[in-house]
Amino acid sequence: MSRRRVASREDDVADGLGFLTSYGILVPPAVVGALAALPEYSDEPLLDGRVRITRRITGGTLRHVGHAVRLVLELEEAGMALPAGVSLADLLRCLLYHDLGKRQPELRPGDVVVPSRVFEDGKLHAARSAALLREHGEDGRVVEEMVRYHHHGEGELPEGLARGVRGALRTVQLVDGLSAAVTRRDAAVYVVQDELCSSRVGVEEVHPGTGRVVYHMITTGGGGGEKKKKKQPHPY
Ligand SMILES: [Fe+2]
Ligand SMILES: [Fe+2]
Repeated sequence: MSRRRVASREDDVADGLGFLTSYGILVPPAVVGALAALPEYSDEPLLDGRVRITRRITGGTLRHVGHAVRLVLELEEAGMALPAGVSLADLLRCLLYHDLGKRQPELRPGDVVVPSRVFEDGKLHAARSAALLREHGEDGRVVEEMVRYHHHGEGELPEGLARGVRGALRTVQLVDGLSAAVTRRDAAVYVVQDELCSSRVGVEEVHPGTGRVVYHMITTGGGGGEKKKKKQPHPY
């Protein structure tokens, strides 16, 4: 079993954006500027449901995008499969633009807030981001739908999405969440791979503050290994 740390908070964001260029994706300076102007916040929960802001992360949304790009490339390298109809470039374009329409409040460390009152529903910025795509020459239906629905739950998605979008949204949401954990919570993310069975890849998310560890299984679509099939336990 190998375990490799990926996309740490110290990683240079410029690298993440540089990868986009190397995949032939145009990164307009106006988009970089708009993302860099959006702060993100770290917070700690209080017992009454409110949170205390502990840190203002300048250029936070740009960092978040840089981390997300690095993560998706690492997962792809580990063998993660994308659904037919969605390319890696589509996924990278989606990550670049997904939070462009975000509006963040101005908060300071020490502020105590009710998150649902100060941060708007993610579906609103998702719709704004999707509407902004055309301004930057991105008119593909797949990317537009992935951006528009990146905060929708699986049961809330409309019928008739472009081929592959429903499946690819799971990857977008996983990477979005992992990147937020790296950017805002100093989480460490590891790709865990079973050398005996190449189709078994996972992502482990370790939160140093709380000691919480979350494990996500990744489907690679790989051929799998030669491991002997275990006898299945009786279902009841
Ligand atoms: Fe978002
Ligand atoms: Fe995001």
